Amino acid sequence: MPAKTAKELKHRRREVARAIGADAVLIVPAAREVTRNRDVHFPFRQDSDFTWLTGFPEPDAVAVLAPKHKDGEFVLFCRPRDPEREVWDGYRYGTEGAVEQFGADAAHPLAELDEKLPELLADRKRIHYPLGVDDDFDLRVMRWLRAVRAKARKGVSAPTELVTSDGVLHEQRLIKRPSELATMRRAARISAGAHCRLMQTCKPGMIEQALEAVFLSACAEQGARFQAYPPIVGGGANACVLHYVDNAAELADGDLVLVDAGCELDGYASDITRTFPVNGRFSTPQRTLYELVLQAQLAAIDAVKPGKRWDAPHNAALKVLTSGLVELGFIDGKAEDVAQLIKDEQYKPFYMHRTGHWLGMDVHDVGRYKCDGKWRMLEPGMTLTVEPGLYVAPDAAVPAEYRGIGIRIEDDVLVTEDGHEVLSRDAPKEVDAIEQLMARGQAPR
Ligand code: GLY
Ligand code: MN
Ligand code: MN
Repeated sequence: MPAKTAKELKHRRREVARAIGADAVLIVPAAREVTRNRDVHFPFRQDSDFTWLTGFPEPDAVAVLAPKHKDGEFVLFCRPRDPEREVWDGYRYGTEGAVEQFGADAAHPLAELDEKLPELLADRKRIHYPLGVDDDFDLRVMRWLRAVRAKARKGVSAPTELVTSDGVLHEQRLIKRPSELATMRRAARISAGAHCRLMQTCKPGMIEQALEAVFLSACAEQGARFQAYPPIVGGGANACVLHYVDNAAELADGDLVLVDAGCELDGYASDITRTFPVNGRFSTPQRTLYELVLQAQLAAIDAVKPGKRWDAPHNAALKVLTSGLVELGFIDGKAEDVAQLIKDEQYKPFYMHRTGHWLGMDVHDVGRYKCDGKWRMLEPGMTLTVEPGLYVAPDAAVPAEYRGIGIRIEDDVLVTEDGHEVLSRDAPKEVDAIEQLMARGQAPR
């Protein structure tokens, strides 16, 4: 691990140690390998909390943070070196690597977890851990707790409180550090470039999956081998299925295609949606609805700044969308009734999701949305998506030319000291810019 990264992770651990206090322990398990079928695993993805705290890339490990413990504050349990397994599966850092390269004060083989963990819990009041996430891990924590209690007659006191680790870890993860933002900027730039490539490649008759393949390859070429989530490529009315991932239909001349795809780079997600015409030209009804979503998105992005609450972008989008739907006659009402129409959720048949989510190591990243019962204030360093849409079902009671059109426009936005920065700005979203890029891409070579 580069010295700079090691230093930053040490700083994070120190902050978390300060937050939990010297009378507590934090336990964070690494992810485990997950079977896909028989003896084949899904590609391994390390747990985000675990990576954020340790940078250690191997499965099954367990990190313990025990502030001011006499045997060391940061203890890592991991797989030992194993020359035979390493021939098959590759290099393991082992306990030596955990100390030398990942800055653990002490490291032990996993086989010693049940013996050593109770020692680390002795005389601590609280255990912070991802409570209720994994049944097996919950049981292990209970067993360690019982093992400490069994030492009561020797004068050892056992923890009395179990606390979910969200409070200490996730609130820290919510505010991105400069190095994290540098990675997120790169991830967004790679995904934006891949979206541009799709606009230049798309042609009527292609299968949705072929666009997906172009996206994956454009990201991989730039060093992002994995996606933050399975890409959604929905042509025509498939765009109205919010989590459509079949990506198996043919793209028809005259339809729009919605592509919601973002790579993961060094553990950080991007999440971008663009909607563009399969043949490179928006029809009039498509353009009308697209411009409406774009105006809603721009208004929502405008509301991303310190001093605004989390729901400000959503409310800004609802106002534009609902006014537009009234004007189009999709919902009954008058321009002056918009506030009431929003209260009555009249937009819901056409816009059924919220306008964004935190973005970070996880695509739907961690961090509370409300504090003390109120939507929280936006602060510099928070990153979120802004993603309004309109989805007109094929059987909606609206003029026929609008039916089966689904549109979403999604950008990744950082809250800055005085406003915001759109990390995904390299992917065009203005109608003219899309049509021009597509015309250039589709010209005969
Ligand atoms: N791609 C997942 C989302 O937009 O929330
Ligand atoms: Mn999203
Ligand atoms: Mn998305």
